[in-house]
Amino acid sequence: MTPALRAAPRPRLQPATPAHAAVLAALHAVCFRDQPWHRPWRPDEMADVLALPGVRGWLALAPDPPPADGDTEATDMDTPVGLLLVQAVGFDADILTLGVLPGGWRRHGLARALVQEGEKTLDVAGVERVHLEVAERNIAAQTFYARLGYSQVGRRPRYYHDENGVSQDAITMCRSLSQSHPAANEPRP
Ligand SMILES: CC(C)(COP(=O)(O)OP(=O)(O)OC[C@H]1O[C@@H](n2cnc3c(N)ncnc32)[C@H](O)[C@@H]1OP(=O)(O)O)[C@@H](O)C(=O)NCCC(=O)NCCS
Repeated sequence: MTPALRAAPRPRLQPATPAHAAVLAALHAVCFRDQPWHRPWRPDEMADVLALPGVRGWLALAPDPPPADGDTEATDMDTPVGLLLVQAVGFDADILTLGVLPGGWRRHGLARALVQEGEKTLDVAGVERVHLEVAERNIAAQTFYARLGYSQVGRRPRYYHDENGVSQDAITMCRSLSQSHPAANEPRP
């Protein structure tokens, strides 16, 4: 086997629909279980979000079981291990949620693949800027987004609250998409 094939599991990305609401809710709950300021979304809430105008979602599917270090040959690729939901409104879009399962699936490029797939779709749709909020204590996610070209643009004081009422700020981040997209060069309405 070549080193390239051992480097990381190759995710298969699948557009998510309201029919995936239960899977998405289960993924969301596990991805954010160590972040009590993120309340889990029930399947019906997830379905409602997916039905909102401009919302798109993706699932990352990868080999089961998780690859051990140095043993990442792709096999059956049918286990949902990550999710991304975005919402586009005009030239702007928001990342509503992003998560990859803990327990061996992280640091294999799955979130990067999800975000890049989302950005590609948004770019084609004419979106120019992608925004997000991330908890100030969530250094891992801030590092991840910075690595993908997102910059801090602001702060929302006491935006998140856990079940004990402890609050923390949200860091707002933004990235401009391709300036070469035709919509970026057209006169604004
Ligand atoms: C943040 C999260 C989505 C990253 O998922 P992932 O699949 O592990 O990320 P990737 O493997 O695509 O990481 C790409 C790059 O981001 C950076 N990165 C990712 N996780 C990081 C971490 N924990 N610490 C530091 N840098 C990190 C690295 O530069 C990484 O590249 P490298 O592994 O080659 O060094 C994942 O940790 C997660 O689900 N966290 C809980 C939910 C969450 O916080 N979501 C985001 C807030 S909405």
